[in-house]
Amino acid sequence: MSTITFEDINVVYEKTEHYALKNLNLEIQSGQIVSLIGPSGCGKSTTLNLASGLLKPTSGHVKINGQEITGPGLDRGVVFQSYSLFPWMTVLENITFALQQKEKERKEIITKKAAEILKKVGLNEKVQKSFPSQLSGGMQQRVAIARMFVLDAPVFLMDEPFSAVDEITRNQLQDLLLKLWEEGETKKTVLVVTHNIDEAIFLSDRVVVLRDGQIQQDILIPFKRPRDRFKIDQEEAYTKIRHDLLKAVSGEYN
Ligand SMILES: Nc1ncnc2c1ncn2[C@@H]1O[C@H](COP(=O)(O)OP(=O)(O)OP(=O)(O)O)[C@@H](O)[C@H]1O
Ligand SMILES: [Mg+2]
Repeated sequence: MSTITFEDINVVYEKTEHYALKNLNLEIQSGQIVSLIGPSGCGKSTTLNLASGLLKPTSGHVKINGQEITGPGLDRGVVFQSYSLFPWMTVLENITFALQQKEKERKEIITKKAAEILKKVGLNEKVQKSFPSQLSGGMQQRVAIARMFVLDAPVFLMDEPFSAVDEITRNQLQDLLLKLWEEGETKKTVLVVTHNIDEAIFLSDRVVVLRDGQIQQDILIPFKRPRDRFKIDQEEAYTKIRHDLLKAVSGEYN
């Protein structure tokens, strides 16, 4: 069980007078998948970084299950907007290193687990032996996703996790995320930042639109799971939600 609560949050970065987030109140219930969308600079990464514990609010409280977040923890897996891989480690070493922080298994077992998850995100043995600098952006992004998946924390925090991959891979990774979420004994709480409205609708229970550091809209996505991306987009409700989200992102009010 992991409910994330943002209470009366203000964020003003050092040396600026600009509110990156202003009076933000948001609760992400345990087991929910919530997408954050909105124009560049509206405060999406700032919100995610608060939940990761890497950033402290200027005022207000960020809590998990009522407990104030004081820093990063193994209870939260994160995919950052910049992929944050260790450049001196191979792809496989990046994943095994992460896993060693959590599990005290034998090295062979950890390596096997790491190789399996890398395969699931579409990275073969040759890529696994490469260093991050030798990979395309989309491949590096998949390593970061694999690292979060393998750690299997109760909370997933993802900042534009599929932005650098092609459409087909993007769909596969969305499916993999939903599979991991469905299979969990207790459902993971997922906060995902995306620029893609269709992705937000397909993945989420709720889509929250931010503008200028404030919540513009908080829309419930009613489609039953498991969802078929090629069926829900034919529904009337889908067209309406998509339209509303597009308007909200563009700053046009109803
Ligand atoms: N370290 C920082 N120092 C100063 N200002 C910052 C810093 N990080 C973000 N900001 C400012 O805070 C606001 C929100 O930034 P944030 O990174 O949260 O936006 P975003 O919605 O994630 O945008 P994008 O879609 O481009 O990733 C912006 O005005 C940005 O310029
Ligand atoms: Mg961002």
